[in-house]
Amino acid sequence: MRVTIKDIAREAGVSVTTVSRVLNNKADVSDKTREKVLKIIDKMNYNPNSIARGLVMNKTYTIGLIVPDISNAFFAEIAKAIEDELRRYGYSVIFCNTDNDKEREKESINLLRSKQVDGLIGAFSHDSKEEILALKKAGFPIVQIDRLVDESQIPSVIIDNTVSGYEATQYLINKGHRRIAHITGALDTNTGIRRADGYKKALQDHGIDIDEKLIFEGDFSQESGYLAMKEILERSNGLTAVFAGNDMMALGAYRAIYDAGLKIPEDISIIGHDDFALASLVRPALTTMQQPIYKIGKLAAGLLIDIIKGKDNKELLIVVNTSLVERSSVKTIN
Ligand code: RIB
Repeated sequence: MRVTIKDIAREAGVSVTTVSRVLNNKADVSDKTREKVLKIIDKMNYNPNSIARGLVMNKTYTIGLIVPDISNAFFAEIAKAIEDELRRYGYSVIFCNTDNDKEREKESINLLRSKQVDGLIGAFSHDSKEEILALKKAGFPIVQIDRLVDESQIPSVIIDNTVSGYEATQYLINKGHRRIAHITGALDTNTGIRRADGYKKALQDHGIDIDEKLIFEGDFSQESGYLAMKEILERSNGLTAVFAGNDMMALGAYRAIYDAGLKIPEDISIIGHDDFALASLVRPALTTMQQPIYKIGKLAAGLLIDIIKGKDNKELLIVVNTSLVERSSVKTIN
């Protein structure tokens, strides 16, 4: 027998009006009640005619999510957190991966708009600035994660990449390293640029000259880490440590170091960035700067729901902290 809204209300011990408010994402329902009603909707497999509901409310209860590289566990983990949180509010996710292709990113933004999503979350590149600002001007709910399109003033959830790059490099210096190379992230993203800035500032603050020959451009991929590390080993003598701008590149660097018959950390120490799932599994386990990946996704989804519900978000920029996770890939030298 078809489950009705009355059945849900009775089971949840609330009024039909309250169930309707939950279905339509009204703000005046406590999170506790909302969660209880959504759980019962799930349990009783209640499926209000969402198309009809959407048409009435001009909503589709879907959110678009755009990430540059789903093969990178960082983005897979953040996508899971976003979907988990949006489900709590009755939203589903339409997901687009762009493979760091700027044209695909623009196409994804337009595609998701054509699918009438109620809002958008993404780690966007600077090249999509025009599209992002047009959406903002049209009052379309949008939240940036991880990578900021500078001067876009769009609600965002990020880390302080300069501080994180600084702390990674400072950790190596405090372990006695002075000839430190840096494999940068993609330099068309502010995450890549800011971490490199943090690396340089840490060297300067500790009286170590910046040697541009020790900075190698990567793009956050494992392959770029491998190629950069190969070049570092061919060109740079006296090198004792590397700061890789993310864990994927750190794993690529591992491969190049092992191919050269060298050992980690005996010959070369490595620190990464992100602490995605593989960082603790690789051997030696990778020392890295941990991003609270799940928390970033959860905060971004909650921020977007607030914006959709019309809450006046004073917080345009939520900055969460990274923290050092010390494992076995860095040795102390006197
Ligand atoms: O690993 C992917 C990287 O790109 C992460 O460091 C994340 O911050 C994003 O910028």
